[in-house]
Amino acid sequence: MTSAASSSPQAGAIGASLSNMLDEVEAQFTLSKDKLLELTHHFSELYTYGLGVKGADMPMIPSFVTGLPDGKEKGTFLAMDLGGTNLRVCEVKLKGDHTFEIRQQKYRVSDALKKGPVADLFEYMAESVERFLNEFGTETDAGEDELLMGFTFSFPVEQTTIDRGALLFWTKGFNCPDAPGKDVVQLLQNALDKKHIKVRVNALVNDTVGTLLTRSYQTGGAILGAIFGTGTNGAYLESIERIKKIKVSSQGQAGPTHMVINTEWGSFDNARTVLPTTQFDNFVDRTALRQRHHLFEKMISGMYLGEVARAVIIYLIDNLVLFSGFSSATLNTQYGLDTAYMSMIEADIDNGNPTSGSNGTREVLTQKLGLRAEHVSDVDVETVRRIVRFVGTRAARLSATAVAGTLIHTGNIQDDGTGKQVNVGVDGSLAELYPHFEERMRIALRDIVGEDAEKRVKFGLAKDGSGVGAALGAAAAKKQRTAGHRVEAN
Ligand code: BGC
Repeated sequence: MTSAASSSPQAGAIGASLSNMLDEVEAQFTLSKDKLLELTHHFSELYTYGLGVKGADMPMIPSFVTGLPDGKEKGTFLAMDLGGTNLRVCEVKLKGDHTFEIRQQKYRVSDALKKGPVADLFEYMAESVERFLNEFGTETDAGEDELLMGFTFSFPVEQTTIDRGALLFWTKGFNCPDAPGKDVVQLLQNALDKKHIKVRVNALVNDTVGTLLTRSYQTGGAILGAIFGTGTNGAYLESIERIKKIKVSSQGQAGPTHMVINTEWGSFDNARTVLPTTQFDNFVDRTALRQRHHLFEKMISGMYLGEVARAVIIYLIDNLVLFSGFSSATLNTQYGLDTAYMSMIEADIDNGNPTSGSNGTREVLTQKLGLRAEHVSDVDVETVRRIVRFVGTRAARLSATAVAGTLIHTGNIQDDGTGKQVNVGVDGSLAELYPHFEERMRIALRDIVGEDAEKRVKFGLAKDGSGVGAALGAAAAKKQRTAGHRVEAN
């Protein structure tokens, strides 16, 4: 590799130090097969631990959803989806034949709402429901005199029934300080009641639970629902016998045998026993809203990947081996490098554009990140592409350990001789839009579980999973109520 400042008299020396430094950084981001196996094994340990102990770092949250849909569910439900950049209000018609109709509207959640008093955020949510109903109207579900709403709330919540749950802590840049500990269903219901909106919130689900339910509804069965988007997480169906930390009662009736668990795998190995965090991850963590939380998520998800790449880029700039030592205001700003820019750079590599002349990478560097054109050499373009590739690849390989860990824990990866497919529902911007995400995850999966098993895993995009999942949650809650079969922890 040649120098970033090839006209400088010290070009040779700088070229060599760039190459060494880059090799050394890339090595820190490279996960060997042994490391993947070690991480996967630790997943199993932490799954068992979290099922037995309340308050574990990776909390393994019981969802009180006690079975998976088979596609025959019917009904019309409203859905509220909060968890990322926007909130969505939807009306979902489950048609009972694996299909659904959805009408939905997105409403932007400002930074002020994400970080201000929680009452303001929920008032805005109720206002959005009002606007949605005014615009679209809707109908109540059969036999109901009020509209039922499922609430997809994509943050860690300690649930006690299908319609009760207190926020444990915020993630993904949300930080209303007075919210943790409060019941989020109650907050939403109060905000709706205050506006005299005749809607009853009857189910609370995490987006991963929603994704699992949606994929099951669509295909007749799924093993795992996973989100690889702004955040990352997974949910799967667990045998109640193994959820040692709760006793489930169902009002004297024969109790359920299974329950969906929201793993909150974003918090996998916060203790960093085996997680290979680098100095760049430590930088991202140290400057994040919540330190030493969700470290795994900070190495994987769309909210943070750009920030990890930015940390590497700044390090090389400060060592005078990138952009001749010059940065830009955007690059110097926390979260200034959006993960969407990494997608653009990966796509540019795929297009086979040369590093010289105009290309997508150079455009991102000069137009999106504000670097001066004369500071961006061909070698810099090549260097940035390489950084993006190894940061993105590590994210996909780490994601594979979570998927493999879950499939091994549930006993679904072993071939029972029938060659059965292992159905995994996924959603989120990385899964949907980041180039090569699935392909890289599959390569790692093959390293962990072997080629035969990897081939049986089928990833399916559960598009609209959060909205449809909330509706399926509402349908499940209605079923529990009509059967006089409210499931709760005691
Ligand atoms: C949250 C999870 C959520 C995931 C994906 C994480 O930050 O803790 O509850 O499922 O993001 O949205």
